[in-house]
Amino acid sequence: MIKFAFQYNIYTMYLSKKYPKITTHVLQEMKQRGEKIAMLTGYDYSMARLLDESGIDVILVGDSASNVMAGHETTLPITLDQMIYHASSVMRAVKRSLVVVDMPFGTYQGNSKEALNSAIRIMKESGANAIKMEGGEEILESVERILSAGIPVLGHLGLTPQSINKFGTYVVRATEKEEAEKLKRDAKLLEEKGCFGIVLEKIPSGLAEEVTNSLKIPTIGIGAGDKVDGQVLVLHDMLGINQDFSPRFLRRYHNLHDEIIKAFSHYIEDVKNLDFPNEHEQYYK
Ligand code: KIV
Repeated sequence: MIKFAFQYNIYTMYLSKKYPKITTHVLQEMKQRGEKIAMLTGYDYSMARLLDESGIDVILVGDSASNVMAGHETTLPITLDQMIYHASSVMRAVKRSLVVVDMPFGTYQGNSKEALNSAIRIMKESGANAIKMEGGEEILESVERILSAGIPVLGHLGLTPQSINKFGTYVVRATEKEEAEKLKRDAKLLEEKGCFGIVLEKIPSGLAEEVTNSLKIPTIGIGAGDKVDGQVLVLHDMLGINQDFSPRFLRRYHNLHDEIIKAFSHYIEDVKNLDFPNEHEQYYK
């Protein structure tokens, strides 16, 4: 345990010294140097403090908040106001990591002016560093308008959960030639427009490698294999809080579900057995 704490401190100190503040330019540098980018989702102040302290490069305020924070089945119901609330909470905690916020469903697909207004609201009201948008060619006009306002954009291709009603399933995307070709074209278009990176979700690793090698900007994979420039996971999945979701790509770094249930059960037992609070845990004057 002491050895782990020591190693963790040294590594965190090393990362903070090397890159005192993560920017989109730092991510570009990391790709050029062949250094992997570590990204996790975060939705609240307390977890964001821990993420930032641990030396994570990027915190994604994902619209997966709709699932893991609000209990919805899909990412579709979360609103712009709710995303701004989550992003503001994260921003109050973060000193070093780059914070990227998902544009929620329905706030950018309509027209590019509406998209720009939504992006400006996120940036102004939360203080975040960048936004993320799902899709390629179809949303290019919005991407362009947002970029021209000086707002950094992270693309997202492959499995795009906001289109779940079109796909009908969360299976691996772009396994067929036609879809793979479109994904490659979309990635190039997003790079040409000026996106600073692209998330590649649940696509074959060979395709992700090909896309990664064809771009100057970094790719960040989730279920896209090991030949991308970085990795992202949903916080609640990797901590093992959420036990219902077990895709092949998910590595669980903890079993917080069991740990938390154990702590809650212990507390309940102590209260019921009059063991909490004890004489040291109360005030006498
Ligand atoms: O919303 C989210 O958490 C995401 C990641 C899965 C990339 O978009």
